[in-house]
Amino acid sequence: MRLFFALWPDEGVRARLAHWSRELHAVCGGRPMRAENLHLTVAFLGNVENARVAEVERAAGEVAPRVVSLVLDQPGYWKQNRIAWAGASTVPAGIEAFAAELRSALERSRISFDTKGFVSHVTLLRDAREPRAMPALDPIEWRLDGFALVQSVTLPRGSRYEVRKFWRNLNANR
Ligand code: 2AM
Repeated sequence: MRLFFALWPDEGVRARLAHWSRELHAVCGGRPMRAENLHLTVAFLGNVENARVAEVERAAGEVAPRVVSLVLDQPGYWKQNRIAWAGASTVPAGIEAFAAELRSALERSRISFDTKGFVSHVTLLRDAREPRAMPALDPIEWRLDGFALVQSVTLPRGSRYEVRKFWRNLNANR
């Protein structure tokens, strides 16, 4: 099955990201990601044999889920893959450290993943045009208290991302 680890937004953050997506779509066009699929990828594993999924989950269990505040305040555009995205002008050290820890835990268990460096971003539009100017958007405050193992399921109408398992920081007040 096709798997990746991600930071998964709550409903409020998801609604704000969907709003950014509509505003960006007005200036870049392209294919909006479905709101229910919006996420921030931390490690992309790709295809994993069913027999190894338990090991992937065990490796993730070695990593402490952190409580971190991430402020998405920067829309961006990448020419090379025509993606418009939501990003943060300051990525909290806790998120960088978490991504490094998770990736080390996967390496220790010899679970392969795409080793391109971690670039914190939420993809909003694919096949988008470069905008003349980015719209001004209200910052989105995202309080993270854990991370998810997500399965990408291919349906006739496109991919659907399903959270298989979530690791939450037990001290997080919800
Ligand atoms: P992207 O949105 O920047 O394309 C599911 O495909 C998620 O995994 C997407 O968020 C995608 O990032 C990310 N991802 C990272 N590396 C990938 C790869 N090698 N192939 C496909 N998706 C990848």
